[in-house]
Amino acid sequence: MNKEQLQQLAAFLTLQEKIKMIHGAAFFATAGIPEKNIPPFVFSDGPMGVRPEYGPDTWYPIAGNDDYTSYLPCNSALASTFNRQRVLESGEVLGLEARGRGKDMILAPGLNIHRSPLGGRNFEYMSEDPYLTAEMAVSCIKGVQKNDVAACAKHFALNNQETNRTSYSPVVSERALWEIYFPAFRACVKEGHVEGVMGAYNKFKGEFLCHQKELVNDILRGEWDFDGMYVSDWGAVHDTQKAVDCELDVEMAATNNFDDYYLASPLEKAVQEGRIAEADLDKKILRILGTMNRLHMLDGERKSGAYNLPSSRQTLLQAAEESVILLKNDDSLLPLAPKKLKKLLVIGDNADRTHASGGGSAEIKALYELTPLMGLKMLLGGNCTVEYEPGYYACVTGNAWEGENAQNAFANVGTSFASRQNRKVRDDEVAALNASYKEHAIAACKDADAVIFIGGLNHDHDVEARDRSDYHLPYGQDSLIKDLLKVRPDMIVTLIAGSPVSMEEWIADAKAVVFSYYNGMEGGLALAETLLGMVCPSGKLPTTFPVKLSDSPAHSLGQFPGAQTVNYDEGIMVGYRYYDTYHVKPQFAFGHGLSYTDFVYDDLSVSMTETPEGPACDIKLTVANISGPDAKESVQVYVAPLTNDCDKDLVRPTQELRAFDKKEIGKGERTGFSFHLDAIAFSYYDEASHSYKVPAGTYEIRVGSASDDIRLRKEVTVTETCFLPRS
Ligand code: GLC
Repeated sequence: MNKEQLQQLAAFLTLQEKIKMIHGAAFFATAGIPEKNIPPFVFSDGPMGVRPEYGPDTWYPIAGNDDYTSYLPCNSALASTFNRQRVLESGEVLGLEARGRGKDMILAPGLNIHRSPLGGRNFEYMSEDPYLTAEMAVSCIKGVQKNDVAACAKHFALNNQETNRTSYSPVVSERALWEIYFPAFRACVKEGHVEGVMGAYNKFKGEFLCHQKELVNDILRGEWDFDGMYVSDWGAVHDTQKAVDCELDVEMAATNNFDDYYLASPLEKAVQEGRIAEADLDKKILRILGTMNRLHMLDGERKSGAYNLPSSRQTLLQAAEESVILLKNDDSLLPLAPKKLKKLLVIGDNADRTHASGGGSAEIKALYELTPLMGLKMLLGGNCTVEYEPGYYACVTGNAWEGENAQNAFANVGTSFASRQNRKVRDDEVAALNASYKEHAIAACKDADAVIFIGGLNHDHDVEARDRSDYHLPYGQDSLIKDLLKVRPDMIVTLIAGSPVSMEEWIADAKAVVFSYYNGMEGGLALAETLLGMVCPSGKLPTTFPVKLSDSPAHSLGQFPGAQTVNYDEGIMVGYRYYDTYHVKPQFAFGHGLSYTDFVYDDLSVSMTETPEGPACDIKLTVANISGPDAKESVQVYVAPLTNDCDKDLVRPTQELRAFDKKEIGKGERTGFSFHLDAIAFSYYDEASHSYKVPAGTYEIRVGSASDDIRLRKEVTVTETCFLPRS
């Protein structure tokens, strides 16, 4: 349909029909208007795959056998590939499956900044760095929307914690908004052409994000020209008039009193009493129809999608393989040599635990999920005995985030997972269990050819609606790892988690350490392939792992989780920006990730040119894989301001990630990389001019394998200060 036709369609809608289109008539759908050939608009979570089917008005999973789907690596795992192509392809799988399950909008990607290592939903988000987040989110959105399904960038904005999530109001500087918290959302709109943006639960300047006219009307709609659907988070609307005045299009909630929603009967009453003009709804209707039109929901030309395709699972395996991060590998302990293994001991609850069904709204009913233990057994086959010891007792509750209903439902359908996990075990029983598990694990170490520990967190800790309260590993893992390393100094330590954890107590004693985010249905196989050398690790940390929590700027300079007001006093100094600038050495740095081969960076050439839009920079270099095996490398480009004419008391980060690319490089081969930086790469946000300022001065172009592993540098000069519009 063209614009005129859409306007005509909207003009023929009655008030009641318009109101039907702008609020939920079921937990995950608005009502359709069949007499006008307008279908319902159907939503589904989430970033890791299409959520199980729930009844229209009860949080009881329908628990059929036809809603199993593919389970993607979480958003942090996708970001750790540092590979746009892997994320694009994974996004394509997500969109294909959403379409295949009859959805119109998949509520993904999650792109709030990792402000604290304790953030309960860090796993659903990408990174501490706005540029990496933007690049990965845009890639995901482009993939999803290839399938006539809308993606939904969430949660706009500043939803960086779960504590008090439905009411807290962060205090953030304008500079931090535009350097840290806005860029990824802006990129999703301007570059990703995302069809959906979700209004967060929290407030900003004391106003809920679904009523926040400055951020929504002035910036999202006005400056960024977003013409897709602004959808509330589920229960994030609190006032009829404010929701109408704010350019919000659809109100969704988690309660089944659909007619009582603010944009339902109360709105109809307000219009009938003349307190709200019906015309105020027309922009909402036109935006919804515009999105429906672009998704081919109105013209019968729509793609059908498909779910659980074998090719999709192969795509997800590739992404999982590229997201595993080798943190440490002293004495080249890894990879293990499969042919030399006659007896392998695997210790740790996460070796044998699946994660798909946890985390809150991101839960997935995975068609299957390969655990690391399964992956290792699959690959080693019958010539190697793989012994397993739990090592510690993880009394995972597995409580569904929607409370009692869903909990009972899980019990009702007799899910062994729920009943097993929900067992309440008294503390002394747990202590006794842990002591026994530790004793067995230590005893089993004696005659194993190799020992792999696989622990970390689970979705009792990385979960919606609450943040972690402790940076340390739970269940006594730190002391267990220490004791095991005394018996087996060659033990491989592998952690699976959705956010950084402390390693301080044992990291010096561990020779080989591997980290994997919740990595989807093929994650256990990808990890096993990496440990056994069938895949060469190429993942990079998308977020800094501090030594201790008090090193984190959100906890040392700012407030986390704070109270109803949360002061982001660290400002722009989030993540490596802080650690580098204030020389706080992290446990593992942003962008860190080792390989089984060695790369040599060489032949750097850097040229600056002045363009009408300000300075631009072209960078070329080569990277050689000098020792093998064939491997992939993510080359990162940082810009470091050395001197420039900005205010003397204005602090700029030591360096900022401004480009990255990943390529496969064969053993003994050399490959070229090239990058182009626009003026924005040299800028900071200037509050006085409300724009990005590029100060004249000298800068250093830094090219490396990690933020703390710069291999080549070149000084360049920006000859003339200039200003860039912020939108
Ligand atoms: C939840 C989450 C949001 C999710 C929505 C629908 O509260 O905050 O990410 O998409 O509700 O389940």
